[in-house]
Amino acid sequence: PQRIFSGIQPTGNLHLGNYLGALKKFVDLQEEGWDAVYAVVDLHAITMPVEKGALISQTRQIAAAFLACGVDPKKSIIYAQSSVKAHVELAWIFNCVARMGWVERMTQFKDKAGKDAERASVGLFTYPVLQAADILAYKATHVPVGEDQKQHLELSRDIADRFNRDYDAPGFFPLPEPLIKGPGARVMSLKDGTKKMSKSDPSELSRIALVDDADTIAKKIKKAKTDLLGDMPSDKEGLEGRPEVENLVGIYAALSGETVDAVLKQYGGQGFGVFKPALAEVTVNHLAPITQRFREILDDVSYIDSVLQDGAERADAIAAPVIREVRELVGFWGA
Ligand code: AMP
Ligand code: TRP
Repeated sequence: PQRIFSGIQPTGNLHLGNYLGALKKFVDLQEEGWDAVYAVVDLHAITMPVEKGALISQTRQIAAAFLACGVDPKKSIIYAQSSVKAHVELAWIFNCVARMGWVERMTQFKDKAGKDAERASVGLFTYPVLQAADILAYKATHVPVGEDQKQHLELSRDIADRFNRDYDAPGFFPLPEPLIKGPGARVMSLKDGTKKMSKSDPSELSRIALVDDADTIAKKIKKAKTDLLGDMPSDKEGLEGRPEVENLVGIYAALSGETVDAVLKQYGGQGFGVFKPALAEVTVNHLAPITQRFREILDDVSYIDSVLQDGAERADAIAAPVIREVRELVGFWGA
């Protein structure tokens, strides 16, 4: 049986990269009929400092964003990671399966820990091990994520494979496959085409937030960096060495559902004075209904909490039997 798992951290405001790399795919896959589990990964969020008292409301915000984007809580499971005990239990066991060398290679730790890695939390180091536990507690086979999670997914596969071998349980855990596809898998900063769009960039102009209004979106796109080469190219070769333009075209394609080729064919030879307003319009038309629903849902805390409560119960019903089997394989007393 195939199953999807993915997670989003309750930190900062969601942006267009999160939407195109993750949320929009969640909805597309749901429409294809996949069985899916989506977590607000609050255990991951505390690997970095969190503003006092902010975690609960940020958790509800991500849940509201899932709902606003169209994840249907009747079809898919939406819940908070910390409300299902399997994650922590399996993560510990995986800490003893994963090798230091594997985890030390993870570039996201290096990026997030910065220069002073001595001061990073131990949790930040084992973050990708917890991520493997998230996925495998549900024996998920497919994981829709943005490009930046590719390395973590490779580690998840290594951990699954090593567990299956160490405990003589061939095929017990599936080797989860990343679903990273299309022009939205890596949305770049609007100010620097070589950096990914990120929640932590100090410049608000670098990203389009899911809650930006139409004027703000238009302004940010107008101010987005392009280059001095002039007009839009008419084919993919013309995008080479033009990362900012490639990014804007990719965003247009991902939001409109057209191919990059089709977008270039339509706008090739035109100036940015034509393309940028068109991109702003596509973006606003796509995001406005989501933003509107997001605000409405946020006002209904009891609805959000009921979704999370129901999701936690359904998630636990899948993960708890897996953990029981794992305890038996490892040989814990009382398993
Ligand atoms: P995070 O906010 O770090 O929990 O990320 C949530 C999801 O958004 C993950 O699947 C990421 O891979 C995805 N994501 C984050 N930034 C981007 C980006 N700039 N482009 C595409 N996907 C992204
Ligand atoms: N590490 C992911 C991110 O930063 C979030 C995440 C946690 C996740 N656990 C997961 C994604 C399991 C996919 C599957 O974006």
